[in-house]
Amino acid sequence: RTVRIIGAPMDYGANRRGVDMGPSAIRYADLADGLEGAGVDPVDDGDVSMPRAEERDPDADQPSHGNAKFLREVEDVCTRVGDRVAATLADGEFPLVLGGDHSVAIGSLNGSARGADLGAVWFDAHADLNTPETSPSGNVHGMPLAAALGRGAFGEMAWTQAPGLRESSVAYVGLRSIDDRERELIRASEMTAFTMSDIDQRGVSAVVDDALAVATDGTDGVHVSLDLDWLDPKAAPGVGTPVRGGVTYREAHAALEAISRRDEADRMLRSMDVVEVNPILDEANETATLAAELTASAFGKRIL
Ligand code: ARG
Ligand code: MN
Ligand code: MN
Ligand code: MN
Repeated sequence: RTVRIIGAPMDYGANRRGVDMGPSAIRYADLADGLEGAGVDPVDDGDVSMPRAEERDPDADQPSHGNAKFLREVEDVCTRVGDRVAATLADGEFPLVLGGDHSVAIGSLNGSARGADLGAVWFDAHADLNTPETSPSGNVHGMPLAAALGRGAFGEMAWTQAPGLRESSVAYVGLRSIDDRERELIRASEMTAFTMSDIDQRGVSAVVDDALAVATDGTDGVHVSLDLDWLDPKAAPGVGTPVRGGVTYREAHAALEAISRRDEADRMLRSMDVVEVNPILDEANETATLAAELTASAFGKRIL
């Protein structure tokens, strides 16, 4: 199958510059070769255009939606990402979005959930369920799932919403850093949340299989969102919000291999994003290299 690579060099959703270089770094780490090794045909669609950060002021000209920085810019970029993802699916190709900070997932989810019932598996240290009302940081990369589900102030913003995504079809894998308000929201929600403790107790492959069972139940396909801070910072140092106690290099590969095994059985994988690689914070591009390798694993690249 054809995998269309869509670069989204976004850093408006994060609290620091550098994550906008993620798409270049992941491409430089031989993403296309890795995908060919997995038996798919990569086609690079280039990057979506990005307003220049130096020309913008975080507080100027923003609609009054509480504490969400650069929401206008995030809207511009995510609308373009969503349109490209939807067009890619309409052409019968697979959209692979390279971030950029995790706010780009607002675009991927919106585009993938147009006219389809979508499930989502969210590999992340964080829940990314804040709203402009609850966010402690104002950084939109901590809000994409709330945005896609139309929670809080996002309920008035059609551009953030993923029409075919139901809360009960969302599964988290590997959570370990959750804000107090997010904890309440998760407990009260219909989402399924597997934390690092679940991985400790049951092993990563079993947990991913369960997450896939949730995300495939009654849906037309699954969006996989891979935030590189899901991994332990020892394996993935090049991220803006590292949290110790994450999965190892091997566990991460096992998880993405579990995705590809399920996909071989019933082709449920519909779209994917790989986000939060920050080359400025990285060590010799190792986090981008890992991002490329894990993506190849998701598409079925095997050792033998
Ligand atoms: N929960 C924190 C916040 O909302 C951190 C979010 C980090 N998100 C991410 N995609 N790295 O600000
Ligand atoms: Mn930038
Ligand atoms: Mn994260
Ligand atoms: Mn995230």
